[in-house]
Amino acid sequence: MEPYRIKVVEPIPLTTPQQREEALRRVSYNLFDLRADEVTIDLLSDSGTGAISAAQLSAGMNGDESYAGSRSFYRWHETVSELTGYPHLLPAHQGRAAERILFTSLLTPGSTVVSNTHFDTTRANVELVGCQARDIPCPEAKDLDSPHRFKGNIDLKALEQILQNQQESPVAAVVMTITNNGGGGQPVSMDNLRRTADLCRRHSVPMILDAARFAENAWLVTRHEPGYQDRTPRQVAEEAFRLADGCIMSAKKDGIVHIGGFIGLKDPELAQKCERLLIATEGFATYGGLAGRDLDMMAQGLVEVTEPSYLAERADIAAHLAQRIRDAGVDIVEPAGLHALYLNAGRLLPHIPPHQYPGHSLACQLYLRGGIRSAELGSLYLGEEDEHGNPIKSAPYELVRLALPRRVYTRSHYDHVAQTLADIAKDPSSVHGYRITEQSPILRHFSIKLEPAKG
Ligand SMILES: Cc1ncc(COP(=O)(O)O)c(C=O)c1O
Repeated sequence: MEPYRIKVVEPIPLTTPQQREEALRRVSYNLFDLRADEVTIDLLSDSGTGAISAAQLSAGMNGDESYAGSRSFYRWHETVSELTGYPHLLPAHQGRAAERILFTSLLTPGSTVVSNTHFDTTRANVELVGCQARDIPCPEAKDLDSPHRFKGNIDLKALEQILQNQQESPVAAVVMTITNNGGGGQPVSMDNLRRTADLCRRHSVPMILDAARFAENAWLVTRHEPGYQDRTPRQVAEEAFRLADGCIMSAKKDGIVHIGGFIGLKDPELAQKCERLLIATEGFATYGGLAGRDLDMMAQGLVEVTEPSYLAERADIAAHLAQRIRDAGVDIVEPAGLHALYLNAGRLLPHIPPHQYPGHSLACQLYLRGGIRSAELGSLYLGEEDEHGNPIKSAPYELVRLALPRRVYTRSHYDHVAQTLADIAKDPSSVHGYRITEQSPILRHFSIKLEPAKG
């Protein structure tokens, strides 16, 4: 059961099918353009969407808003240094700010960053400084149905080869994303992390954690990795941070705050470079673009997030929804993770070709039938067409992501999601595809306009 009870509630918008139809038509079938008050269950993102605890709120009330050297900063610093062990810690307003500052300070144009899978802003920030972002997920990650427990791992053989052949482009860093959001939210094993750290050390390349979901990764390690059953998630997390040379963190996930992030580093010179850029572009080194209350709430969230009772319930509610979805005959990326479930829309809607966007079609149905907002991760997000709409590139899989905000929705909300999917799965052939009417050349999914495809 949930290890908390509810003290403050917020009504959720309840809409009619006709209102949803009109809303979707008005936004040209782009779910990003819906107003939040037109959405009943919002599973668009687990980032910054969690519910804070009474302890976080009261820590925030104690925030010290001094421009420099606030008590909030020192409290935050003590908590984060105990968790991570890094001597140099810089707050930032969110994950991508930490990425920009670290990569601008660490990378030189023409070099390469290798990862189990770069998250899209991480990739963008590597490319913005003139570097190449290479993804080498482990081979098991390609099989969506495989029950392999650590599909977030990096391919160690490929990494070794890349590190041995750096003539063309030197490797400036290896980024390990835990859990691997771009790779279906799958965890990375401690064994894989340790072997990656060894390879990096042998080749004098820093290993950086993208630690947005470090606690969820640690939970899955305690559940499934031999030798870790008797450890607490907190102990696993502490070990993971210490294996790396530094981290970038979006605290909007496993910090359970609405805004916040940080950089942690072992190298004092690199930290000094980052600090200069932070002061010029984010804020002084003791607040980094955040208010004192934000730092206090983040510190408290970072403690709560490794509580076994919190993580057990988070895993349990995700497993409950996953099982109900499987029972409805809809396949998901296996094994089910904690922060999101990924629906295999390509398999559910085989009559819709990739360039009529099966993932988007399913996401629209979830909204039309149940007021549920989700995110397409298929050919709308990753595909490409020529100026006549003919396919050039399709995504490898047509998926829909149901992200699960922390401590926000109850089992009955998720039962409504599963029931809506079950209704769709009863007659999938009635679902139609979509056609693009307008799009931008970059990150098109945010602003795209579509219409139902005819025939
Ligand atoms: C793995 C990962 N890294 C980095 C980020 C970027 O963090 P933010 O949204 O706080 O900028 C995200 C956001 O979803 C993420 O999932």
